[in-house]
Amino acid sequence: MHAVGIVAAAGSGLRLGAVLAGRATPKALVPLGGRPLVAWAVATLLDGGVDEVVVAVPAAERAEFAAVLPAGTRLVDGGATRTASVRAALAGAGEADAVLVHDAARPLTPPAVVARVLAALAAGVPAVVPVLPVVDTTVVVDGDGTVTAAPDRATLRRVQTPQGFDRAVLAAAYAALDDTAELTDDAAVVRAVGIPVATVAGDERCAKVTVAHDLALAELQVAR
Ligand code: C5P
Repeated sequence: MHAVGIVAAAGSGLRLGAVLAGRATPKALVPLGGRPLVAWAVATLLDGGVDEVVVAVPAAERAEFAAVLPAGTRLVDGGATRTASVRAALAGAGEADAVLVHDAARPLTPPAVVARVLAALAAGVPAVVPVLPVVDTTVVVDGDGTVTAAPDRATLRRVQTPQGFDRAVLAAAYAALDDTAELTDDAAVVRAVGIPVATVAGDERCAKVTVAHDLALAELQVAR
């Protein structure tokens, strides 16, 4: 099975608000333990068993990304939304059997999670996501913030990345998706065309770096 990793790294990172050398810096280039987030994400995919990696980057920063990524990493210009960025990277993924889509914003994902996703695909599932249980009671609210429903917590999961797909299945699902659609993950894209999505165990270390507090926590982990 030839597996290509896609890293979505074209976000601006406004919520992190990183300013390096006096200018706003895309989140994926922000250092963690002295190494940019995107470099951690690419290394995890390769260490976990992916054969090659395509990274969707902000067009204006292509050179900065190329300078910090291993030789052989392919770069494509990302889009205005995560969905558009993954669509662009998928077009550049070549003739893979499997595609794993990962967020640059999840730098400390253990390679074992990548390996679990690959194993599920090798066993024949068309789509698979790493998940964790929900530990807080989780509710649905209306526009005023009033609770309207409290789904049974035992049936809920938090979804992480990398998310794995049969390449042809994911390509067909993106082809069927409206150009302007904006979904928060890729499992939603394949579910929209009726493909079942399996789950494997995720890991707390896959946590997403979104705000400065998340980066501070990640720094504590790499310092240990
Ligand atoms: O914004 P959020 O943290 O949900 O982004 C998740 C991932 O999607 C990040 O790694 C970010 O770089 C990526 N992204 C992208 N293209 C965009 C927006 C986000 O590749 N236009």
